[in-house]
Amino acid sequence: MERMDDLEYREITHSLRDQIIADKSWGNAGEHIRLGPDCFSICAFVGEDLVGFISAFRRPLPPPLADLSEAFINIIVVRPSYQRRGIGSSLLQRTVQWARQHRLYQVSAWSTEDRIEAIGLWRKAGFGFRRQEFEVEGRKGYGFWVVLPLSHD
Ligand SMILES: CC(C)(COP(=O)(O)OP(=O)(O)OC[C@H]1O[C@@H](n2cnc3c(N)ncnc32)[C@H](O)[C@@H]1OP(=O)(O)O)[C@@H](O)C(=O)NCCC(=O)NCCS
Repeated sequence: MERMDDLEYREITHSLRDQIIADKSWGNAGEHIRLGPDCFSICAFVGEDLVGFISAFRRPLPPPLADLSEAFINIIVVRPSYQRRGIGSSLLQRTVQWARQHRLYQVSAWSTEDRIEAIGLWRKAGFGFRRQEFEVEGRKGYGFWVVLPLSHD
């Protein structure tokens, strides 16, 4: 079991994103990190080890809802040896908090049906599910659009 006593969350900078992209143990996950004024991208460190990250960006809903915006989660990932200890939920809750602060209407994401862990994460956080079929290069499958509506005072 890895130690968790020095867990901290940091903003992802351009140089940190470059490091994540260069670290092939993350596969191509780093390429989904977006940086900029309409983005929220943070990572979790345990000591000097980067153990997970999330990246979301703001986008308007389509007409006739274009006066509303959502935070779309482009990537969330936690290293296998650090999973199931609340880091994914904490990354997600910080993103939800950012979306609330910016008065966004909802937080949304997409997961294919084989992403059992992610589907459990959305479920635990109270997201709703909408099944969506897709076909990629002749392969048929399905996934879920997941949405968490946000209430504002
Ligand atoms: C999805 C992911 C980010 C979750 O990170 P995590 O740090 O393990 O998440 P948490 O510890 O906060 O778990 C939150 C909940 O998710 C669900 N969950 C997580 N892992 C699960 C698993 N292996 N099986 C079933 N449910 C799981 C559980 O409901 C869990 O709550 P619980 O531990 O109280 O039962 C992580 O599993 C991951 O990186 N997966 C691979 C990448 C991925 O699929 N990303 C999403 C792409 S859409």
